[in-house]
Amino acid sequence: MGKVPSDFLWGSATSAYQVEGASLTDGKGPSVQDTKKLPANTTDFKVASDHYHHFKEDIALFQELGLKAYRFSIAWSRILPTGQGEVNPAGLAFYDELINACIQAGIEPIVTMYHFDLPDALEQAGGWANRATIDAFVAYCQILFDHFGDRVQYWLTINEQNMMVLANESVLSGRKSVQQSFQENHHMLLAQAKVIKLYHELDYAGKIGPAPNIAYAYPASSAPEDILAAQWFNSIRNWLFLDVPVYGRYDPQAMSLLQAMQVAPEFASGDAEILAAGICDIIAFNYYNSNTVAANMPEKGQAQTPTADFSVPYFFKSVSNPHLAKTEFGWEIDPIGFRITLHELYNRYHKPLLITENGIGGRDELAADGKIHDDYRIQYLSAHIQEMTQAIHEGVDVIGYCSWSALDVVSTHEGMRKRYGLIYVNRTDTELRDLKRYPKDSFYWYQGVIRNGGV
Ligand code: BG6
Repeated sequence: MGKVPSDFLWGSATSAYQVEGASLTDGKGPSVQDTKKLPANTTDFKVASDHYHHFKEDIALFQELGLKAYRFSIAWSRILPTGQGEVNPAGLAFYDELINACIQAGIEPIVTMYHFDLPDALEQAGGWANRATIDAFVAYCQILFDHFGDRVQYWLTINEQNMMVLANESVLSGRKSVQQSFQENHHMLLAQAKVIKLYHELDYAGKIGPAPNIAYAYPASSAPEDILAAQWFNSIRNWLFLDVPVYGRYDPQAMSLLQAMQVAPEFASGDAEILAAGICDIIAFNYYNSNTVAANMPEKGQAQTPTADFSVPYFFKSVSNPHLAKTEFGWEIDPIGFRITLHELYNRYHKPLLITENGIGGRDELAADGKIHDDYRIQYLSAHIQEMTQAIHEGVDVIGYCSWSALDVVSTHEGMRKRYGLIYVNRTDTELRDLKRYPKDSFYWYQGVIRNGGV
């Protein structure tokens, strides 16, 4: 197989609350991640991987690794401690240093503006249910553009909005209705459209786009009912979140499903025009695994409400795929599904694609020889990179690939037990230890991949 283009952005990623630590340091306000309840024996995010204090050393390691890009997120409440109003100069100064260090190391900064860490003050005022949050997000993004726009060429609006909406813990526990969740989703789509429009009006030369989690869903069989179920599933899991930033309107099939479930969002006057005016330049997306779905004909009268396993009675239900192996945390592994997803995305949208996350979580341990032998990660990444390279040769316009994660970070729900990094961070859920960094075997393997242009 040939190489990828020489300007390809070989990268790796993290997110602010999972990596930085210093969760209330130097004026940072709390985010919803700092106030949420965590499972037992699982670390909080107070120290995380302490990237806030170790970023120079981390970037030196990224440079040794040969990264061409580093995708990180900016913590909204580090810039604006209550989400709006007074700017925290120490917050701007931290990201100034981080961005400058990347550039000096020849690493392109790719910035996500919001990665699961809404400022808690905004959450207390209603969060995304409150339309005022839309304007707060636009004002925050304008600060970022004004301050960092001269150096940052790649901007991502919202990380995995679809997972925030579809796997919403408040909905699944019954504290919030499904309709509320799709109303909040609508407000996020409006906020994103306004920010994209603003960025274009400010006339920067860079690119901006959304960053959902996209994975093409297979039908469980060739039965037409299963194929229809897969279409419904794809519409609400994938296209709902990309048709808006690419075409400026909801995917009609997804909207008809929302209407059938009686959870369609209410549009205020002018909303359709706002969505139509914010068209993205690139599509960034995260890929971990595929989905398989079957028709779902339940008892008559059962409500059309989604369930925790991503099923909607009368439309589809998630099933496991007998052809796929699973990670030790139960996630299906499907590198060919990655290639299929790349083709589907490019066929549907014809926009440059940027992979912002792809990786495997496992229980890595420091071996007696002072190394971390993560062959399973090398296998996972290698298989996915091969399929991506194949898709590029088959005509898909992919501009970059970021593995998740550059260094070990705190997993969203499983603390430090579930590690994704190319660099080990010496701490556990219960012991902080010395936080020393150790390149894993996958670090040296990825270094070779980058050096050889993907081969
Ligand atoms: C993505 C998120 O959902 O997957 C990351 O953008 C997250 O923040 C990653 O860490 C892996 O998920 P998890 O739950 O295993 O940490």
